[in-house]
Amino acid sequence: MKYIPEIQRRKTFAIISHPDAGKTTLTEKFLLFGGAIQTAGAVKSNKIKKHATSDFMEIERQRGISVATSVMTFEYRDHLINLLDTPGHKDFAEDTFRTLTAVDSVVLVVDSVNGVEEQTRRLMEVIAMRKTPVIVYINKMDRDGKNRFDLLEEIEKELPIRLHPMTVPINSGKDFKGVYDLSKKRLVLFSPGSKAEDVLEISDLHTDALDRAIGEKDAAVLREDVELLEGVYGQLNVNDYLSGDIAPVFYGSAINNFGVKEMLDTFIDIAPTPRPRETTSRLVKPEEEKFSGFIFKIHANLDPKHRDRIAFLRVCSGKFSRNKYYRHVRLEKDVRFTNPYSFMARQKDVIEEAYPGDVVGLFDTGNFKIGDTLTEGESFYFTGIPSFSPEIFKEVSNKDPMKTKQLEKGLNQLTDEGVAQLFTQFGGNKKIIGCVGELQFEVIQYRLLQEYGASVQMNALPFYKACWITSKDPKKLLDFTRFKQANIAEDKDGHLVYLAQSEWFLQTERTNNPDIEFHFTSEIHK
Ligand code: G4P
Repeated sequence: MKYIPEIQRRKTFAIISHPDAGKTTLTEKFLLFGGAIQTAGAVKSNKIKKHATSDFMEIERQRGISVATSVMTFEYRDHLINLLDTPGHKDFAEDTFRTLTAVDSVVLVVDSVNGVEEQTRRLMEVIAMRKTPVIVYINKMDRDGKNRFDLLEEIEKELPIRLHPMTVPINSGKDFKGVYDLSKKRLVLFSPGSKAEDVLEISDLHTDALDRAIGEKDAAVLREDVELLEGVYGQLNVNDYLSGDIAPVFYGSAINNFGVKEMLDTFIDIAPTPRPRETTSRLVKPEEEKFSGFIFKIHANLDPKHRDRIAFLRVCSGKFSRNKYYRHVRLEKDVRFTNPYSFMARQKDVIEEAYPGDVVGLFDTGNFKIGDTLTEGESFYFTGIPSFSPEIFKEVSNKDPMKTKQLEKGLNQLTDEGVAQLFTQFGGNKKIIGCVGELQFEVIQYRLLQEYGASVQMNALPFYKACWITSKDPKKLLDFTRFKQANIAEDKDGHLVYLAQSEWFLQTERTNNPDIEFHFTSEIHK
């Protein structure tokens, strides 16, 4: 229990959005508030630097896409906040999904002009599945966006979530005048580029001060809006937020640093501290004396000259200490880390200790897989770290028979990192790679050649989903597997998957085989 003050200080979250909605800008504003950076533009320039030194691979530099997921730590109001960055590019969605398993809450940025976009929908499905608490930030109110209420309706209709507006915007675009904060009962006025916030405490909206501040017409609309919203929504029930049922909503303009502080303050007030986590044997509470944690991401090739990898460890309970031996549950061996480090974007600092909620970078030479657990001796795995069905499938063929071993090793290591999923044709040895996006195939092909010297050819396969199949009746499963052999493969852990050519085929098989269960996700550990 002695770690409770450390645990209660921490909040670990991710900002998610469709690319271009303003995630980077908002991240930067958070870091400025936290004093972690001093000048605007620092996060962006970091992005550029990343490409320039490019570390990871040529593809990234050429395409200008940040593949990296890093962790930024800053302090705000005596809290220690770990912000896990997620790659915006849709082809790396799997990476983002994994990162979501390591956070306790998320902030979702929605562009007021474009509303809900594809990428957001998919991420929200994962969040809803995990019941992760969400705060929504509707960005770019300085642009002529959708009607404020239409946006709320659209978000509620499109995403599996109920909303609770915390602020009411006054117009948008060039007429944007600011927001009224419903809980703090104050008007926050918008002046583009201004550093200090112009705040008017207005508890009674019928005061003339409101008309003077925003004009009679807008004051009248605001009064109506507030009456309506208060009638419909009332006070936010924090427990509904914490259970992932209701998401508070803020309107703002990240680039103008507007509406950011309101949200950050609310975040500090209500966002969960590190939560207990389910494992294969029991619920692990953060305040337990003994350390435990899991690997949610593996980042390869920080230095292209070495084939080194960084495994991202989320601490779940107890205290992690440098140089102490911990149990690597899957390998059944004790391991210790002489140079564990914390992240501040790219700067690495060796750390002595870390607490629940923290993310530690562990230098790895190939011992880790996504989902691996470290403990002080106990054997369990954290659950809820799923694999998602890939959407594009390709058969890998070796162009150089002399490099079969290298290819095998490369495929294994890259798929351990979670870059892609590897399937082996049932009853054969055809290797099939499944990814979420085309770009990942290029990454794999490039890395197999650069790092393992293996040259491969990839041929597209006509599948659209991989469904993990199970049945209560082992005989039925075996029959189905034999009968549908051309569509059956095994994943890396030996679980059976049915590769469906189309939705129609999948539905047909479902109807014809009521004893077989088809799953779109597979738990790494059950
Ligand atoms: P992302 O990380 O989600 O991909 O988005 P990012 O923050 O990079 O923002 C995407 C673009 O939207 C950037 O413009 C950024 O300046 C702009 N933006 C962010 N917040 C706001 C806002 O509140 N209002 C308006 N009008 N624009 C906003 P860019 O031209 O792509 O990049 P830059 O040249 O400004 O860096």
